[in-house]
Amino acid sequence: MPAPSSLATWQALLQRRSTHPLPSLRDLFATDPGRAVRMQASACGITLDYSKNLLDDGTLALLLRIADEVDLAGRTRAMFGGERINTSEARAVLHVALRCPPGAHWPVGGTDVAAEVHAVRARMRAFSRQVRSGDWRGHGGERITDVVNIGIGGSDLGPAMVCEALADHAGDGPRMHFVSNVDGVQIGEVMRRCDPRSTLFVVASKTFTTQETLANARAARAWLVGTLGDESAVARHFVAVSTNAAAVHDFGIDTANMFGFWDWVGGRFSLWSAIGLPILLALGPERFDELLAGAQAMDEHFRDTPPAANLPVLMALLGIWNVNFLDAASQLVAPYHQRLHRLPAYLQQLDMESNGKSVRHDGTQVDCRTSPILWGEQGINGQHAYFQLVHQGTQLVPVDFIGVLDPGGEDEGLHRIAFANLVAQAEALMRGKTATEAEAEMRAAGLPEDRIAALLPHRVFPGNRPSNVLLLERLAPFTLGALIAAYEHRTFVQGVVWDVNSFDQWGVELGKQLASRVLAELDPSAPCPTADAHDASTLGLIGRYRAHAR
Ligand code: F6P
Repeated sequence: MPAPSSLATWQALLQRRSTHPLPSLRDLFATDPGRAVRMQASACGITLDYSKNLLDDGTLALLLRIADEVDLAGRTRAMFGGERINTSEARAVLHVALRCPPGAHWPVGGTDVAAEVHAVRARMRAFSRQVRSGDWRGHGGERITDVVNIGIGGSDLGPAMVCEALADHAGDGPRMHFVSNVDGVQIGEVMRRCDPRSTLFVVASKTFTTQETLANARAARAWLVGTLGDESAVARHFVAVSTNAAAVHDFGIDTANMFGFWDWVGGRFSLWSAIGLPILLALGPERFDELLAGAQAMDEHFRDTPPAANLPVLMALLGIWNVNFLDAASQLVAPYHQRLHRLPAYLQQLDMESNGKSVRHDGTQVDCRTSPILWGEQGINGQHAYFQLVHQGTQLVPVDFIGVLDPGGEDEGLHRIAFANLVAQAEALMRGKTATEAEAEMRAAGLPEDRIAALLPHRVFPGNRPSNVLLLERLAPFTLGALIAAYEHRTFVQGVVWDVNSFDQWGVELGKQLASRVLAELDPSAPCPTADAHDASTLGLIGRYRAHAR
C-alpha cells in the first residue's frame, strides 16, 4: 500500500488547501441552496447531514477519489472474505460474519464460519431464555435477579453501552452490573448490593489472561463460595465468555458453561459475538437479533454503496479531511440522548485502539497524523462544560452530533428541548457571531459604548467550525446496531487510508508487563526494588506505597 502522502489525491488536496482559502460555511449555505440536501446520506434508519463540514464540492470530489486510490473496495472484499488483514497477528478480521442471519453461509478457507457463529448464538439464546424465564436457578434454587459482567475493554464497553442504550427494551430482564475497574470499588458495590444466591457472574475475557478481569473474578468467586459455603455453587453462578477454554477450565469454570468465540474477532469488535451475552440476558435474544440485523444492514450498505452515498465512507473521509488537512487533533462525539452516554467511551476504544498507530503495515513510519483523540459525553452536559473551547478555543474540534427523532416513551417536551440544543449547537458552531452582530446585540440590550468596545472581542464567535449530524429515527436495537457498525467501518476505512493495522494493539502491552513487576514490588514484605530497577520517580512512588501499606 502506498504511504498516505504519496497518493496523488492526497497531494492534490494539499495543493488545493494551499491555493484555495478555506470556504466560509455561511457563504456556502447562502449561495448554494442545494448544499444541505446534497450533502446528506441515509442508510438503515440513520441520516448523516455532513453539509456543515468545511469543504466545497471540489474538495469533496477529491476526497472521494481517495477511496479508489487506496482500493477500498478491494480491502473491503479482503476483510469480508476472511483474508488475514490483521498482518502483525496473522489473523482474519471477521466481525462482519458475526452479524450474518440464520441460514447464511460464510465460507472461509474450507470452514463455514457462519455455522460456528450460529451454533454459539443458539446456545446464547437458549441460556439467556433460561435465565430470563427463571428456568436457570441459583445453587439454592433462587431465580437469577442480578447479572454481573466482569470484563474490561472490548469485553466490557460494548455490552455495557448497548445494555444502557437499550434499557427501555429490557422487559423484565435481570438487573445488570458491569465490573471492569480492579480497584475494588465496583466489585465491592456488587457484593454490597447483590444477593449471591440470585446473582450470575459472566466472566468475559477473550484471552482469559487479563489481570484486572481475573482478579475481579477471583474476588467474586471467593465472595460467592464464602457466602454460600459450597464450592459447587460456582457451576450455577459463573459462566465464561472466552476463546481460551484451557484457562477457563483452570480458573474453575466448567467449559460446559463457556461461550466461545474466535481469534478473528477483535476485542473492540466483539459485542456481536458471545461477548454480547449480557445483552441477551438483559434484553432477550430477540432484541440481540435486531441489533445484529441493523449491523448487517449497515455492512451491506457499506460493502455495496458507492463512496459518494456511503455513510461510513463519507464519515471516514470527512474525518481524514479534518485531521490531515485542517489539522484537527481531536474528534468530539456528542450524543443528545442520555441512553447513549456511554457511546463516546465505547468509540474511544474502537477508534483509538484501532488507529492510534504510527507504524504502517510494512513497519515504516506513517507520514501523517492518524487517529484523533476521540472524546465526549452526552451533549447537553458537554454544553455546560467544554463546548466553550469548541466554540471559541484555539483548536479546531470537529463534532459528531448524534440525535434521536423519536422521544420513545419519554416526555415529548423535554425531548424537544434536547433536540433543539443539538440543532442550535451545530448551527452556532457553523455560523458563529460576527463583530457586527455582537455589537448590534449589545446595543439593543442598552450597553454603553465603552462597555460594548471592551466586551466585543469576547462576544465574537469565529464560527466555521465543522460538524456532522447523525440522526437516528429512533433509539431501537436495529438503528443502534447500524450506528455502531457505521463507526466500525469508518474506523476501518481510515485505517486503510493511513495504511495502519487497525486490528492489533501492541501499544497496550508495555504497561501490562511493567504492572506485573511493580505489583510484586509494592508488597511491603518483598525486598525493596534496587536503585537500578527503575528511574527515581518510579522508585519514589513504589516507596511511598510500601511505606503506607506497612
Ligand atoms: O488491553 C487492551 C485489551 O487487550 C483490549 O484490546 C481488549 O478489549 C481488552 O484488553 C480485554 O482483553 P480480554 O478480553 O482478553 O480480557
